[in-house]
Amino acid sequence: MEDLIKLPKVGKATVERLEKAGLNTFEAIASTSPQELATKCEIKENLAIEIIEGAKEELRKKEMNVETTEEQNEEIKYVNTNDTVTFTDKNNDVAVVDENNDVASMINTSSNVGLTSLPGVGPAIAKRLGDGGFATLEAIAVASPKEIAAACEIGESTASKIVLGAQEQLNIGFETALEVLERRQAIGRISTGSKNLDELLGGGIETLGITEFAGEFRTGKTQIAHQLCIIVQLPESEGGLNGSALYLDSEGTFRPERIIQMCRGRNLDDKKEKVLENIIVARAYNSDHQMLIVDQLSDKIVENNIKLLIIDSLISHFRSEYIGRGTLANRQQKLNKHLHQLLKIAEAYNLAVVVTNQVMARPDMFFGDPNTPVGGNVVAHASTTRVYLRKSKGERRIARILDSPMLPEGEGVFKITEDGIVD
Ligand SMILES: Nc1ncnc2c1ncn2[C@@H]1O[C@H](COP(=O)(O)OP(=O)(O)OP(=O)(O)O)[C@@H](O)[C@H]1O
Ligand SMILES: [Mg+2]
Repeated sequence: MEDLIKLPKVGKATVERLEKAGLNTFEAIASTSPQELATKCEIKENLAIEIIEGAKEELRKKEMNVETTEEQNEEIKYVNTNDTVTFTDKNNDVAVVDENNDVASMINTSSNVGLTSLPGVGPAIAKRLGDGGFATLEAIAVASPKEIAAACEIGESTASKIVLGAQEQLNIGFETALEVLERRQAIGRISTGSKNLDELLGGGIETLGITEFAGEFRTGKTQIAHQLCIIVQLPESEGGLNGSALYLDSEGTFRPERIIQMCRGRNLDDKKEKVLENIIVARAYNSDHQMLIVDQLSDKIVENNIKLLIIDSLISHFRSEYIGRGTLANRQQKLNKHLHQLLKIAEAYNLAVVVTNQVMARPDMFFGDPNTPVGGNVVAHASTTRVYLRKSKGERRIARILDSPMLPEGEGVFKITEDGIVD
């Protein structure tokens, strides 16, 4: 019997329900759909998703232990002749070591210095790591296990041990609170143009993280995105970061004319050409294209001093390309990768990432606003700050903080006018 109690948010009562429904192994739970689990155990679908993810995680952990012992046994077979030892790993890569057992000298001839100190890395894998562009501990430490696995043709669990090993050796992963505080002091904030909205956001849109604006159509997501592209260019005393903006447009709704109109509203009419020049627009035609653009951003970011990266909308391509329940896992995996890429960029370049998101009606909500941002847990967890927008009278809109590591819950009202976003 497995320890179902290990699963997230599962207490005794839920364990009983799971067992009663015949779902008494991690395998059984992991292969159930959220809807099915929710119905069988009479729990909410959100909870079901978390339980299923938890079961998958447990399976992954189990798989990792089994696979690594197996792989290690298999990894190196060696033949001891009179004066040399020949190592052959399972991919038939051969390394010959002399009678003094001088492995180090052999490894040092390549650039892969020290890689064999990593768990599961023999000379052959060290060579493949080097050939795959992962010749240093630093390069390995910031790579994802998937990348390493693909470059070296090894299992992903072995790869993740290698990555963890590199992080440990470099002492990455742990910081004191003081160090975190110092890093966060470099944080920049971009004003939205509305005092109410800025206050709600604790002073504006923060760099080093992802801010998500979710809401129904015409709630102002694209308008806010346009406005931020202008304000980011202003000096800090005027709510900007002296930087430029990159607008990744997946819906074809970026309008330079609207930027000009908003410039007029801010008395920047004479600077409008400069403002337009500092907004780089990239139109993404499908989800792969969208991810590719983000992959190739680093040069552009440095070259153009980009301080704001907008993705409007984050998810519409993913939603229209992956239809049906069977494709959901794939879609979420890709989306997760995309969001982590965005988060990495936000942290590496100290810039603000702003994504817009759609909402869907949740049939299980009987009171309050029944809309919830799409993208499930993947988007919910990746967004540092989530803002939910809804329509009010006329040009008024109401913003509410759904989730933030440090902002109190609250609401703020702003207006969308010809001049842009105002109080
Ligand atoms: N030039 C303008 N002057 C005044 N208000 C405008 C102007 N342009 C747009 N708006 C307002 O902005 C609203 C559209 O908001 P926006 O395009 O940001 O919606 P959205 O949240 O991005 O919607 P979608 O989900 O469809 O992308 C319009 O309904 C209108 O009220
Ligand atoms: Mg829009």
